[in-house]
Amino acid sequence: MYVCICHGVTDQDIRQAADAGCGSLTELTMRTGLGSGCGTCGEFAREILDEARGVKAFPLAVFAAAA
Ligand code: FES
Repeated sequence: MYVCICHGVTDQDIRQAADAGCGSLTELTMRTGLGSGCGTCGEFAREILDEARGVKAFPLAVFAAAA
């Protein structure tokens, strides 16, 4: 699904950026342009990025539950 309409950035693009080491919304903006237009996508994009990074940081469900 499109998260940033202004720059055509999807949730999959955000997950791929997280997998490639993107660690912040600022870095995501530098990579994709997301958030640099109207700005309404920032909070949702941050949620997706944090979720994607959390999955990567806690690959086993038991560790995610303990966090
Ligand atoms: S929807 Fe992302 S900058 Fe406008």
